[in-house]
Amino acid sequence: MSRAFARPPYPTTKSFVPAACHMPLPGQAPWYPPVMVGADTLAAKLENIDYRAQALDLMNKLTPDEYTTYLKDFYAHGQRQYGADWRYADIVTVLLCLSEVLQPRTYLEIGVRRGRSACAVARKSPYVAMFLFDMWMANYAGMENPGPDFVKNELKKIGHKGPASFTDGDSHKTIPAFFTKNADAYLDIITVDGDHSEAGAAQDLCDVLPRLAIGGAVVFDDISHPAHPELNGVWKALVENDDRFSTFSYREAGYGVGFAIRKY
Ligand SMILES: C[S@@+](CC[C@H](N)C(=O)[O-])C[C@H]1O[C@@H](n2cnc3c(N)ncnc32)[C@H](O)[C@@H]1O
Repeated sequence: MSRAFARPPYPTTKSFVPAACHMPLPGQAPWYPPVMVGADTLAAKLENIDYRAQALDLMNKLTPDEYTTYLKDFYAHGQRQYGADWRYADIVTVLLCLSEVLQPRTYLEIGVRRGRSACAVARKSPYVAMFLFDMWMANYAGMENPGPDFVKNELKKIGHKGPASFTDGDSHKTIPAFFTKNADAYLDIITVDGDHSEAGAAQDLCDVLPRLAIGGAVVFDDISHPAHPELNGVWKALVENDDRFSTFSYREAGYGVGFAIRKY
């Protein structure tokens, strides 16, 4: 059974994602809140554009591992069997879509591993400034976890041209330290895909959510992962049921993924 989680306080911010917002002309009153796009519009895009083909193309450019080799066959089978009706989504298709629409200037990720999700963002926003956090746990999910130099090289292959900073260590220490040091930092897209324990994932979300820019997106992976059933409750309590976000949650196949756009 999932626990109740206390939502973090959200300080008022004037940080907006330009591609997601309408700003009134000088002299005009701001009748509406500025955010023009949310999860429904983005879900339609996710449905209408073949981000799976784009994800496949991306993975073909990256160094393969056991998981991506399996995933490519999974994509091909689903596409063959269900064609354009197939609604499959995952962290890569979602990040390709969000990055295309939001054109993020900044991206923070907890849980980088081999850089696949970070590369999806870089693919669509080559100049994005990346803040990447991992403790590079050895033998993660039974596969090697080679660390920052490997990821830097993967980002280079994809054509990332912006800065990338790597912070090594436990996110429960490194993320609070990062926001203490960067007291005015707000991010355009944030991915939480590190600690998969219930308390750990909830803490990561609580640490980053207040620093999401208005109109920005948070992505949370594995909300229907059979080995981590608690993550769905964490996502629901801290994001899906919070009116400040419009949300998309995919649980049909694979390990599931959620994303949310911050409205205010
Ligand atoms: C699921 S993988 C990330 C996959 C990546 N986002 C992708 O889509 O390719 C999770 C990563 O989180 C890292 N991790 C787990 N617990 C962590 C913690 N407390 N602090 C920092 N990193 C952590 C692991 O080392 C691992 O590399």
